[in-house]
Order: sequence, then structure tokens, then C-alpha cells
Amino acid sequence: MFIDSHAHLDDERFDGDRDNLINSLKDNKIDLVFNIGADIESSKASVELANKYENIYAVVGVHPHDAKDVDKNYLETLRELSKKEKVVAIGEIGLDYYYDNSPRDIQRKAFKEQLNLAKELDLPVVIHTRDAMQETFDILKEAAQDGKLRGIMHCYSGSVEMAMEYIKLGFYISLGGPVTFKKSKVAKEVAVAVPFDKLLIETDSPYLTPEPYRGKRNEPMFVRYTAEMIAELRGISVEELAKATSNNAKAIFGIK
Ligand code: NI
Repeated sequence: MFIDSHAHLDDERFDGDRDNLINSLKDNKIDLVFNIGADIESSKASVELANKYENIYAVVGVHPHDAKDVDKNYLETLRELSKKEKVVAIGEIGLDYYYDNSPRDIQRKAFKEQLNLAKELDLPVVIHTRDAMQETFDILKEAAQDGKLRGIMHCYSGSVEMAMEYIKLGFYISLGGPVTFKKSKVAKEVAVAVPFDKLLIETDSPYLTPEPYRGKRNEPMFVRYTAEMIAELRGISVEELAKATSNNAKAIFGIK
């Protein structure tokens, strides 16, 4: 059985078959799915999914894309949401200088505020970073000074060296569909280099679909293709990889 540590099943692309898909997770060897918020609305939708389905947990937070749209009470809203049952982390939060959908100073502000919130609530964080690797690291390093920060680098796309630095800060490294792409040499190096007890797998459904379904809508059950690729690269069985990554996901999200 696999755990998909990062999905967006509240996305409108699942509107036609969400219930069927979630009800068939078990038959498709998916034990649990962590549904990740990207703004207040999707954070609330994540909490609703977690309430409705035993095999879904919720993560709440505001993505850098949406940082410009928050109202002045958003931290209070997130704090309230985080008290709900089955809310296990703050995310996805971070910096995205590729799309720059929000001005960078606003991205930084929302990122730092939510890191502080996570520490205050004693919850892990789920980090999104794109074209902002060094600055993301610097902000996390500063936030980690008090020893209260822990979390996940979601769909990690940086170097092996940087991955090791994040691990030193208290982070897990989560790999998704891109590791299956032919051209993704660095992601494959990371897949081999990350210590077994710091590795997670995810889909980021409906995005980043792995081979052989690249181009189609991604679904949690496709996490197996990412798992198979990593297992092959590491020279271990897919069962062994599934077990380790599931244990790691439960450990960082605090699930018994
Ligand atoms: Ni995501």
C-alpha cells in the first residue's frame, strides 16, 4: 500500500468522479492521501474531504500564487481551520519566482507568517518552491533557528547538495511524477541519494502526471509509477519503498 503525501482532490478536474475515485483508492493500493490547500477556499475544501473520508487528511495554507489575494484575517482563519480534526500541517506555502503570480515581497511576507503560525501550532509545513531555491532555503534556515520547524519539500526539484541541506534543517524530501521523466537526471540522482528515512512520494494530482500517463490528469493511484522508478533506481523492491515512504509520511504528519 502507498501513501500519496500531496494531492489536490478538491480541484475542479475531479468534479465529475471525485467520490468514485476516493472510494476506489484502497482497491488501487492507496492507503492514505494528504490533500493540500492552496488558498482559503481549497483549505476549507480539504478539511471537508478529510471529514467525509477516512483515508484523507487535510493540510491548510496559502500558496505563493495566492498570497496577493488573502484578506487581513487569513492567519486567524488558518488557525481556526488547523484546530479541526485531521488537519495535520500548514501548506502549501513558499515562494514561486517562476510564475510570479504574486509580487515577491507579498510572497515572502505570507511565507514567513505561515511558518510562524506552523511553529506556534506545532505543525509541520509543506513547502512549494520554484526558481527561488536559495531564498527559500535562507528563510527556512532562519525559521529553523529555534529548533521548532519541521516539514516537507514538496515535489523537490533541486540538487542533491541542497536536498542534504534541507534534511539538516529538519525536512523530508518528497518526489513526484517528474522523477519518471526521461530528461530528469537530477531528480533521479536525488531519488538515490536521499536517506531512506527522509524520503516521501507524492502525485500533486491533478498536476505533474508521471510516465506512462504524462499529459493526462494525475491521480493518487499513479504514485506507484513514481515509486517503481525510485525503487528501480535504488535497487530495492517497490514494496520496501512503499513501506518506508508510508512510514515516513506518517512520521512527519504525526499519524499513528
Ligand atoms: Ni501542490
